[in-house]
Amino acid sequence: MGIEIKVEVPRPKRIGAHSHIRGLGLDEKGKAIPVADGLVGQVEAREAAGIVVRMIREGRIAGRGILFVGPPGTGKTALAIAIARELGEDTPFVALSGSEIYSSEKKKTEILTEALRRALGVRIREKRTVYEGVVKELKIRRSRHPMVPYMVIPREARIRLATKDDEVTLTVGEEITHQLLEIGIRRGDVIWIDAETGRVFRVGKAKGFEEARYYDIETHKLVEVPRGPVKKEKEIVRTYTLHDLDLYVSAQRSLISFFTIGVEKEIPPEARREVDEMVKKWIDDKKAEIVPGVLFIDDAHMMDIEAFSFLSRAMESEFSPIIILATNRGLVKIRGTDIVSPHGMPLDLLDRLLIIPTRPYNADEIREIIKIRANEEEVELEDDALEELVKIGVETSLRYAVQLMEPARIIALNNGRSKISVEDIRNARKLFIDVSQSVKYLKEYEEKFLKI
Ligand SMILES: Nc1ncnc2c1ncn2[C@@H]1O[C@H](COP(=O)(O)OP(=O)(O)O)[C@@H](O)[C@H]1O
Ligand SMILES: [Mg+2]
Repeated sequence: MGIEIKVEVPRPKRIGAHSHIRGLGLDEKGKAIPVADGLVGQVEAREAAGIVVRMIREGRIAGRGILFVGPPGTGKTALAIAIARELGEDTPFVALSGSEIYSSEKKKTEILTEALRRALGVRIREKRTVYEGVVKELKIRRSRHPMVPYMVIPREARIRLATKDDEVTLTVGEEITHQLLEIGIRRGDVIWIDAETGRVFRVGKAKGFEEARYYDIETHKLVEVPRGPVKKEKEIVRTYTLHDLDLYVSAQRSLISFFTIGVEKEIPPEARREVDEMVKKWIDDKKAEIVPGVLFIDDAHMMDIEAFSFLSRAMESEFSPIIILATNRGLVKIRGTDIVSPHGMPLDLLDRLLIIPTRPYNADEIREIIKIRANEEEVELEDDALEELVKIGVETSLRYAVQLMEPARIIALNNGRSKISVEDIRNARKLFIDVSQSVKYLKEYEEKFLKI
């Protein structure tokens, strides 16, 4: 009897704590739908965030920033991410924690400058040579992996592209084949392939293309089959960040910096000046436009007076992203000073901020959020396990309740069950304590220790 080896390559799944958030969940009038786009409750803050999104879209936010204030686990980070989702994929979003500006390799102002420039997009229009048409035929040739014989990998593809007037058959190599598979290109899709870089882009599904398969729910828009030749010049719009351009220019300036940049080196100020000039010229020539993105700084009270004045100045400058700060501190000292100030921030900065409060959730809201997270993490909960988590969420914090789900899932699995029971939750809670318990534990320990 032969031995059967089952190869199961575990696919690492990155489930970010906020992966369930798709947007702000507002209706056309800007009113919050109780549960929508992955968000639950927090109605006023969501509606306020919706107004912010409109101000950003209408270019009416210059010189101002946003500050989310509220206790831990009330959705400050979640709302900042929802704003980014509303603004669309083209809008750069950079997240930073206030403590991340302190590093031994880089100056604070350099870290902030880089973050600001990553959060500023430049939309550039350029002419590229492309092959564009509807996919009439797609054949993928696969062969065995040279080192892992039981694995079959795609090697090349033959693809027939057609317009209403022309037809071209292309043979493309491994990399383009991978892209075709990854994007899931099928017959009937209208696509273009950049002749130079090989980048593949799906425009949509061809209208009236008789060979295309149609499903009840279409996730791709229907488009016309293009006219003219398959190979042609096309105007393509792409968005780079100022930081991308900084890297590009510094790399061109010297070969050395090409190899060291991105490790720990700083970008020379001349490179940034050159990029600014270049971008201004493109804007004057109507070849490019600025797309202000979002720079989100969580735990903003961790920044010091120098960083705050730097940010204030940045808000005033010609090119500035939208700056969103979040904090859970009330009246505290501004770091680097003895001055006590609201949220540990200088008044001249506070003057520029629109402040949005977030409030703690009630049991029903916590239940909804836990259900959404369980679904997102593909975790099944018995009814009383869900209620136990709700209770924990109310007593301790929403975040702790959400975090207990994964250990509880493993405990359940170890006991041969796929659904989490209330016992699994209680066991997980014994093994992993929440912050107030961990502090209490250390305090008791200290007291004992001192008595000896
Ligand atoms: N209103 C909400 N709807 C859905 N999920 C939420 C909501 N508020 C918070 N969450 C989720 O709960 C967890 C904790 O919220 P988070 O945004 O990190 O809180 P904060 O930043 O205020 O400490 C995260 O996983 C977050 O995505
Ligand atoms: Mg947060």
